[in-house]
Amino acid sequence: MPTKTIKDINVKGKRVLVRVDFNVPLKDGAITDDTRIEAALPTIKHLLEQGGRVILMSHLGRPKGEPKPEFSLATVGQALSAKLGQPVAFAGDCIGPKAEEAAAALQDGEVLLLENVRFHKGETDNDPEFAKKLASLGEVYVNDAFGTAHRAHASTEGVAKFLSPSVCGFLIEKELTFLGEKTRHPERPFVVILGGAKVSDKITVIDALLEKADRILIGGAMAYTFRLAQGGKVGNSLAEPDKVGTAKAALEKARSKGVDFLLPIDNLVCNALDFKAGTLGETKIQEGDIEDGWEGIDIGPKTTALYEQAVREAKTVLWNGPMGIFEIAESAKGTFAVAKAVAEGEALSIIGGGDSVKAIKKSGYSDKVDFMSTGGGASLEFLEGKDLPGVVALDQA
Ligand code: 3PG
Repeated sequence: MPTKTIKDINVKGKRVLVRVDFNVPLKDGAITDDTRIEAALPTIKHLLEQGGRVILMSHLGRPKGEPKPEFSLATVGQALSAKLGQPVAFAGDCIGPKAEEAAAALQDGEVLLLENVRFHKGETDNDPEFAKKLASLGEVYVNDAFGTAHRAHASTEGVAKFLSPSVCGFLIEKELTFLGEKTRHPERPFVVILGGAKVSDKITVIDALLEKADRILIGGAMAYTFRLAQGGKVGNSLAEPDKVGTAKAALEKARSKGVDFLLPIDNLVCNALDFKAGTLGETKIQEGDIEDGWEGIDIGPKTTALYEQAVREAKTVLWNGPMGIFEIAESAKGTFAVAKAVAEGEALSIIGGGDSVKAIKKSGYSDKVDFMSTGGGASLEFLEGKDLPGVVALDQA
């Protein structure tokens, strides 16, 4: 059933309580990546243009139920005001007199940002009393916080029980379309590229995607666990020997479903690695088994060429997880080559959030992809086929 959206409701003159995900990275108090603020703008602008009185709420970091100045949303309010080109009122709390007065003072087309909802324990506890207090600020509820939709918290789930209508914004609608609809009924061949460190983090995603994909290309350290499952040697590479059984089961499922499951045929390996310092010892390209004393840190050139070809042949590509240690230039080549192939290919390109978004941004190809998810954990859970509490709580059409 499709979730109702802000296009289905009339907000003129109404106080619209909007949950956004303004959980942006900060360094020394400054925002280092404002993607999530940008991603919330279409919904906020639409509601303002329609004459709504917009009350925004979000979390920032994990302050554990107490007010902590370093997690204040005040800086985000200033950044948002600059982007909207209009003042954004800021309330020093998200419930109680400060929030109530600021919400009551709003006029049509004005916007207010509440302080971090996680300054109260009731938020992560999904306390109904706290949710009721949040709900009392608005007359209509909009959830557009895709990145937090996998959390059943008061501002993402609890509040929907006290406000009607409860609908999603344009960002959630778009995320559900690309990560959901477009991968459930993909144009084929549907090629999935999965990377990242651990099989254990991605196994449920692999399992779900084995039902939908024509080809799955594996990179990152999790490829070494698959190599162990095939009886190969991985030297000092990061691998999970206790997950070999899980990897074997996935390989078997791929065979029985007729999914082409590709693993690296060569790797960039090194004999020393200091991730913090960003330095590598000696490096070489290794085909097949990796000897003791060496660890795999990227896919090699033959694998890269194979994966580029698979991407060229695809009509839909979903990418989640880097191919190697892309934070260090020498071991970023595989990831960046895949990024280029995905961005420049003809296929519909969907980047499934988290580290792959960071990688594609670093590669310089991010503006050429069709869709980049703003979710980390939320994207993974959604791709696993799990219901997202923040979406399920909303009105269904
Ligand atoms: C995220 O950044 O993944 C979301 O904002 C959720 O944050 P959380 O993991 O602290 O709940």
